[in-house]
Amino acid sequence: MSRSERFAKPEFAPDHTLITGASGGLGRALALHYARKGTHLTLWGRNAERLESVAVACREKGATVSCRVLALNDLDAGIAQFRKDERGRPVDLAILNAGVSDIRPEGALTESVDAVKEAALINYAAPVTLATEAASHMAARRRGRIALIGSVAAHHDLPFASAYSSSKAGLSRFATCLHAAMAPHGVGVTLVEPGYIDTAMSQRLDGARPLLVSPTKAASLIAAAVDRKRAVLVFPSVFLVLKLVSHLVPRALAHRLLRMAKVKQNAKDV
Ligand SMILES: NC(=O)c1ccc[n+]([C@@H]2O[C@H](COP(=O)([O-])OP(=O)(O)OC[C@H]3O[C@@H](n4cnc5c(N)ncnc54)[C@H](OP(=O)(O)O)[C@@H]3O)[C@@H](O)[C@H]2O)c1
Repeated sequence: MSRSERFAKPEFAPDHTLITGASGGLGRALALHYARKGTHLTLWGRNAERLESVAVACREKGATVSCRVLALNDLDAGIAQFRKDERGRPVDLAILNAGVSDIRPEGALTESVDAVKEAALINYAAPVTLATEAASHMAARRRGRIALIGSVAAHHDLPFASAYSSSKAGLSRFATCLHAAMAPHGVGVTLVEPGYIDTAMSQRLDGARPLLVSPTKAASLIAAAVDRKRAVLVFPSVFLVLKLVSHLVPRALAHRLLRMAKVKQNAKDV
C-alpha cells in the first residue's frame, strides 16, 4: 500500500444509495460511480429500458440494484415510493438529480406554460419534498448524505430560460437552508451546481458548450464533495468567478447583455 493510500480518508461508503434521474446522463454516471460489492442502489427514472441497462451495468460492478419506473410530476407518488424504499432498507445517500431544461422557442417571449410547470415540479418541488423526507429519516439515525443537483444557470437572470434558471435558484437556496438545519444532526447536504456536462440535456443546445465536463468526471467530483459534507460544489470553478463578477455589474447592463445572447435548442430525442 502506497503512503498516499495509507493516509487517504476512505470515501463515504453508503450501504443504500437512491438516485433520481438514473436512467441516463449524470444519474447513470453517479450510479456507476457508487456501484460496488456490498452496496445497494435504488434507481429511479421514467424510461424502463434505459433504467434497466444502467442496472445491468451496476450489477456487473457487484452492486445489488432495484429499479423504480416513475414520473416525478406526481409529488405524492414520489414521497410514497421514497417511504417504501426507506422502509425496505434505510437510505443513507439520496442523490436528487432528475431535472428538465427548456429554452423559449425562437421568436417567443417566454417558455410555454407547460414547460414552466414541468420545471417547477421536476427541478424544484420534487427534489425539495424528497430531500425533506430523506432528511427526517437520516437525522433520526444521525447518518446520511443528500445531494441536490442544481445548475450554474441559477446564478444569472436568463431571459431565455426563466423557469430553468429560477427553479434551480430556488433549489439552491433550499439546499443551503437544509445544510444549515441538518449539520448539527449528522446529515450532510450538498448543493451541486455544474456548468456544462456532456449529456443529452446539453447536447440539445445549438451552440458552444464551453468547459464541457464528462459525466464520469462530474460524478467523481460530486462524490468527493458529498464525502466531505461540502455545502456547495460549483464546477468548473470559473463559474464561481462569473457569479461573483455578475454581482458587480449593474442589473440593467447584465440584462441587456443577457438579452443579446442567442441560445437555441434542438428537438428532444425520445
Ligand atoms: N447536462 C448539463 O449540462 C447540466 C448542467 C447543469 C446541471 N445539470 C443538471 O444535472 C441533472 C441531470 O441532468 P442530465 O444532464 O443527466 O440530463 P438528462 O440526460 O436529460 O437526464 C435527466 C434525467 O432526469 C429524468 N427525468 C426527467 N424528467 C423526469 C420526470 N418528469 N420524472 C422523473 N424523472 C425525470 C430523466 O428520466 P428519463 O430519461 O427516464 O425520462 C433522466 O434520467 C439535472 O438536474 C440537470 O438540470 C445538467
